Amino acid sequence: MVTYVEAGTAPLRNTGQIRLYGPDAFEAMRVVGQLVARALDEVTELVQPGISTKEIDDFLFAFGEKHNAVPATLNYRGYRHSSCTSINHVVCHGIPNDKPMRDGDIMNIDVTYVLDGWHGDSSRMYMVGSVKRAAMRLCEVTHEAMMRGIDAIRPGVRTGAIGAAIQNFAEAERCSVVRDFCGHGVGRLFHDAPNILHYGSPNEGVELREGMIFTVEPMINLGRPHVKILSDGWTAVTRDRSLSAQYEHTVGVTTNGCELFTVSPAGLHRPGIDLKAA
Ligand code: MF3
Ligand code: CO
Ligand code: CO
Repeated sequence: MVTYVEAGTAPLRNTGQIRLYGPDAFEAMRVVGQLVARALDEVTELVQPGISTKEIDDFLFAFGEKHNAVPATLNYRGYRHSSCTSINHVVCHGIPNDKPMRDGDIMNIDVTYVLDGWHGDSSRMYMVGSVKRAAMRLCEVTHEAMMRGIDAIRPGVRTGAIGAAIQNFAEAERCSVVRDFCGHGVGRLFHDAPNILHYGSPNEGVELREGMIFTVEPMINLGRPHVKILSDGWTAVTRDRSLSAQYEHTVGVTTNGCELFTVSPAGLHRPGIDLKAA
């Protein structure tokens, strides 16, 4: 049986109980969520052929420092960077390095800042130079899949409703949903209960209640869903080397739906797509 607890009263570790947060927490999450969103906005113009993912990571560290925020990934389970940068067939947890980005690459940048003890977690796809149609379409499908999952959120439904909405859309578009990683409770902790699966059926999972805060972060592949982890212990890639995309928002459940904490103030949550459309 799953139990829900008033967030302030529960110990600061993942006990499996689900924290329900109040208005003060929502306000703090707005602040850190907007900081993450601004960082992901500002990074947009840096992403050009020739720049390395290490340079992007350095920018994200410095941006956090300027705003009294620390990247949650720094020294997290031995991870040593401020962001994950996942290029082309990398599904997630790509490690920033010195290699220059190349024209036609697609890349997910995922950053989590901790501000006054609150975690804001978001990621987007970026297009380097001009990108092939199939890659562009994968990014569009992945963003739409995430938004359909988010649209399913309201008190009383189960987490499975989110997964079902994502899977139904992605598979109708002949793409596949990665099973090995999921969304997660977030707030005082980086990774908390419950897990948010990006596949499944509406009668599965735990019931959503007002005050829950979690991420929705589907990874969608053009080919098959299977992944493997490289020998660095982090980098997840598609087994068939097909392209993979991911977007991530942090959301809070409200009386009749949810609030998105990580909306782009510049309207750039889909940088490659929205800039080209403009
Ligand atoms: N930000 C990722 C997430 O969305 C987690 C990255 S953990 C790391 O949950 F250690 F790989 F950075
Ligand atoms: Co996350
Ligand atoms: Co993330």
